[in-house]
Amino acid sequence: MSKIKKIAVFTSGGDAPGMNACIRAVVRTGIHFGCEMVGIKQGYQGMIDKNFIPMNRYSVSNIMQLGGTILKTARCLEFKTEEGQQKAYNNLKEAGIDALVAIGGDGTFTGAERLSKKFDIPVICVPGTIDNDLYGTDFTLGFDTATNTVIEAIDKIRDTAESHDRLFFIEVMGRDAGCIALRAGIAGGAEAILLPEKATAIDDLITTLEDGAKNSKSSSIVIIAEGDKNGGAYNVAQKVKEKISYFDTKVTILGHLQRGGSPSSFDRILGSRMGFAAVKAILAGETRKMVGLKGNNISFTDLEESITRHDFKLEDDLMEMSTILA
Ligand code: ADP
Ligand code: F6P
Repeated sequence: MSKIKKIAVFTSGGDAPGMNACIRAVVRTGIHFGCEMVGIKQGYQGMIDKNFIPMNRYSVSNIMQLGGTILKTARCLEFKTEEGQQKAYNNLKEAGIDALVAIGGDGTFTGAERLSKKFDIPVICVPGTIDNDLYGTDFTLGFDTATNTVIEAIDKIRDTAESHDRLFFIEVMGRDAGCIALRAGIAGGAEAILLPEKATAIDDLITTLEDGAKNSKSSSIVIIAEGDKNGGAYNVAQKVKEKISYFDTKVTILGHLQRGGSPSSFDRILGSRMGFAAVKAILAGETRKMVGLKGNNISFTDLEESITRHDFKLEDDLMEMSTILA
């Protein structure tokens, strides 16, 4: 019988669609196995501020379809300090919390790993970030929904680009990763995709766009990952405009709309599977692991490895397709 009687769940870092599905699964799985469940609001800031709420199975009713996170999230600098971590732990101890499920990205994982190692509190992490930039999982929670959001935006922009014979530069999120740009660019039929993982010379982009224009392609869409080395959509658009002034160019920065929206079926299931697996792992005595999806199976990676290894890479066939199919 596990000595874990009370489990807390929290969301931290950038929010992501599917986080609520995960919270719902964590709470209901914990209750099913006889645990008391606690929600920590506003991530590590809430841990420091004792922003704890008891949760029953009805606390997570009707949230599967909601984007964002009912537990809110925050960026908390204080938790990066020894004092902040000590304060957080004291609060967890005082509240009788035996274990944690942390839903977030690599920054969240780093904090969780430090807390767990220093104070020997079990923690299981769920990769919740739209960036899909974590080692140890094929997909992070929110990536599929964010990619679909970008595809919808590309389709809408394509309508007006075609109507006005315009060249659009669309910048998408992903921090230092090009995962959203690559898949949304391919699915959106973009004429070019600029990625941090593969340098694109502006002159090569111009050649591609000019070739299109010579073949009566009167409008084009270029997807630019925010981490691309050319300095973002405005920069790229200006450099292109300088060389081919005849194009009527426009720039759209999609920004934070990529973080919202009702989660896709994939993210609802992924969040539920990962939340369910995280609680079962805690009750089986596991700690400092990240839940992941490999192939179509739930897997676990050492937390330290998921934080330190950045050798996840974009799929070779998608990278090759991104230029051939454009
Ligand atoms: P993400 O989890 O999406 O990467 P952040 O990088 O903002 O988002 O990290 C979320 C939170 O995790 C931070 O606000 C901070 O409270 C905590 N955190 C991040 N890095 C560290 C660290 N090196 N040590 C302790 N806590 C950290
Ligand atoms: O990590 C998720 C993410 O949306 C990144 O893609 C983006 O660069 C960053 O968060 C934006 O952070 P903030 O919401 O703090 O502006």
